Amino acid sequence: MRPLRIALTKGRLEKSTVALFEKAGIDCTQVHEKGRRLILPVGDGSIEMVLSKAADVITYVENGVCDMGVVGKDTIMENGTRFFEVMDLGFGRCRFALAGPKGVDFYAGYREKIVASKYPNVTRAFFEEKMMDVRVIKIEGSVELAPLLGLADGIVDIVETGTTLRENGLEVKETVADISARMIVNTASMKLRKAQIEDLVRRLEIARDAEE
Ligand code: PRP
Repeated sequence: MRPLRIALTKGRLEKSTVALFEKAGIDCTQVHEKGRRLILPVGDGSIEMVLSKAADVITYVENGVCDMGVVGKDTIMENGTRFFEVMDLGFGRCRFALAGPKGVDFYAGYREKIVASKYPNVTRAFFEEKMMDVRVIKIEGSVELAPLLGLADGIVDIVETGTTLRENGLEVKETVADISARMIVNTASMKLRKAQIEDLVRRLEIARDAEE
């Protein structure tokens, strides 16, 4: 049987994931010494970590080329749910928020509002729930610029410490959703490799819940 393949979001979530695996007693030396390699064996070789961009974690898991994935709830909300979400990993905590210029009532007036976001699906769903028509403009990064430049009335973006908003004269108007890193599992793998997956999830849960 090939190793259990886990797609892992590179960057922010990578370090915390490796720390949790190590706390669960899974050797991650190869990940620390990865160089430019993208597929790394961990533990006794029965697990492989695949380093990829957040949205691609979902693509690989949905298509079954990776059995499991570690990805933020933000990416899950934006990109689909054709997989099982089995565990809240407890790190990568932040929130989706509607933000706009400080002191300005986002909802005032009758003109259709313009909202910029890297997450157009999340933004549309949020306003559909309110039965409010808004125009959504997709921005690739540094979304805070859109209201500053006069392109949008507000943004839907990730807020962690709130520093980026504060330093750009913006403020949270409303929380859209709480976010953290999640473990996802391919639907076929869940049946075919049930024992191995359940065992790993149990070990990670114990490590997550253990006192420091
Ligand atoms: C994210 C997010 C905010 C910032 C929030 O951006 O889009 O800009 O972090 O963090 P804070 O509340 O702690 O200031 P990221 O660094 O991922 O870059 P991006 O804007 O290019 O997406």
